[in-house]
Amino acid sequence: MIRFEYPLGATPIDPDEALGLIPKHISTQADLNAWEELNIVEGANWIARQKIIQGLNEGLVRELHRRMFNQTWLWAGTFRKSAKNIGIDWTQIAVALKNLLDNTSYQITNKVMSIDEIAVRFHHQLVLIHAFPNGNGRHARLIADALIVNLGGKRFSWGSNTAITNLDVVRQNYLSALRTADKGDIAPLMDFARQ
Ligand SMILES: Nc1ncnc2c1ncn2[C@@H]1O[C@H](COP(=O)(O)OP(=O)(O)O)[C@@H](O)[C@H]1O
Ligand SMILES: [Mg+2]
Repeated sequence: MIRFEYPLGATPIDPDEALGLIPKHISTQADLNAWEELNIVEGANWIARQKIIQGLNEGLVRELHRRMFNQTWLWAGTFRKSAKNIGIDWTQIAVALKNLLDNTSYQITNKVMSIDEIAVRFHHQLVLIHAFPNGNGRHARLIADALIVNLGGKRFSWGSNTAITNLDVVRQNYLSALRTADKGDIAPLMDFARQ
């Protein structure tokens, strides 16, 4: 079996979840990353065709995760059933997600803040819920991108527009902005999303 290596701020997979790996020929983390990337492209193509403002519901959130990881993990599109170092109590995921989706729809309808702020706050709250065993960061960035485009904005850059080429540094900046958002200040994450 493959030994998982975890990037900074990534959620370890528990052994039960690791049993759900679909491609049996994969034996290294690099192979897994490449395989996941290809699968994720299919999810990205799918979400780009959805009118997500009208359809912001649990079904859409889970279907995107399923399409991003359905050739990789048997549990793609299903909520986690164990505790992680990030994320709310797993028994509360469905309720917290419903709450977030309702709030976000309300913010969109009533234009209570800028569209960037709505989408970035949505991203942050979604990773905080941490609905899935893995892939939460990539899923929540993709759905925030689809949301901002549907709202008439430009896709986010998530730190890729700077002179910084070291991906570890970009990741550090992302995590640091998320931690600041955890404390209630969303501004650094909004900057990072457009950097
Ligand atoms: N302190 C934090 N607050 C909010 N979200 C966090 C924090 N630390 C990490 N995250 C989110 O969790 C993600 C890692 O979870 P994981 O399920 O492994 O996603 P992925 O597999 O896509 O990297 C990070 O990319 C980030 O979005
Ligand atoms: Mg991960």
